Amino acid sequence: MMEVMDILRKYSEIADERIRESISDITPDTLLRASEHLITAGGKKIRPSLALLSSEAVGGDPGDAAGVAAAIELIHTFSLIHDDIMDDDEIRRGEPAVHVLWGEPMAILAGDVLFSKAFEAVIRNGDSEMVKEALAVVVDSCVKVCEGQALDMGFEERLDVTEEEYMEMIYKKTAALIAAATKAGAIMGGGSPQEIAALEDYGRCIGLAFQIHDDYLDVVSDEESLGKPVGSDIAEGKMTLMVVKALERASEKDRERLISILGSGDEKLVAEAIEIFERYGATEYAHAVALDHVRMAKERLEVLEESDAREALAMIADFVLEREH
Ligand code: IPE
Ligand code: IPE
Ligand code: MG
Ligand code: MG
Ligand code: MG
Repeated sequence: MMEVMDILRKYSEIADERIRESISDITPDTLLRASEHLITAGGKKIRPSLALLSSEAVGGDPGDAAGVAAAIELIHTFSLIHDDIMDDDEIRRGEPAVHVLWGEPMAILAGDVLFSKAFEAVIRNGDSEMVKEALAVVVDSCVKVCEGQALDMGFEERLDVTEEEYMEMIYKKTAALIAAATKAGAIMGGGSPQEIAALEDYGRCIGLAFQIHDDYLDVVSDEESLGKPVGSDIAEGKMTLMVVKALERASEKDRERLISILGSGDEKLVAEAIEIFERYGATEYAHAVALDHVRMAKERLEVLEESDAREALAMIADFVLEREH
């Protein structure tokens, strides 16, 4: 059996080719270079691989979903360029962020042009009912990403965010696009309504686990292996499940201390925030929630017939929490 990283590399090649040809005609040269920057830097390619595997898992050809897979990765890349401006982060995929190299105005445009190219990639697949349905799924996920990012920013100003609110926020900013990859992939592969619904649920569940684990990596990993800054969420005062739980469970004194660390802009205080998370079992709690979602995701795969693609999807579900970057 192939390793997950090999699966991602193999599958995403089909989407990579579409992406390369789709952005090659962008002008002027500065905009082209700013748009290509993160694409050239790489990334794990989880989302396009999920779209292609979902198509295959319902009996389609992985290539049927190539346009959708390319679109989802383009939307993801657009969201990263804008996210780094919003989060004030300067490193992405081990490289300086787009706004660091070209400035914010050009980075905004680079994001916008990739976003536009995403829809071109879907439309190029023709005008069948399937394409229209997949397009509607992709469009809906983009609305959710914007809503989720708005919630994410709004939560920086609040200390009373509930677990339920946090889960809604990460569903919108992260899981919705992953669920769109699996759902639209299943649509393009000609899946039945039950198969499409199962793959959408699978994508939503691994997407939620993915973001919980991303928040965890931000506090425990290092910049070298992550390819992006660490401790940045705490310095920016981001709400994560660990913060939500710690604020809920901590003594008055620890709560006050954590509040003073959040949003202080001081990444040196991250170790102290981790101590507070650990003291109240907040890290463990977040991990358990993530694990539960991986389990639910794998359960939903049982609707599908056994295949190598289904096996690969189950492996990716586990990988979401095993990954170190
Ligand atoms: C990063 O996503 C943004 C989040 C939703 C947490 P990835 O971790 O998939 O980023 P790349 O594509 O591999 O760089
Ligand atoms: C990712 O959230 C959400 C989107 C990019 C839409 P984060 O802000 O946690 O992602 P990273 O950690 O910067 O990759
Ligand atoms: Mg960010
Ligand atoms: Mg963000
Ligand atoms: Mg993050």
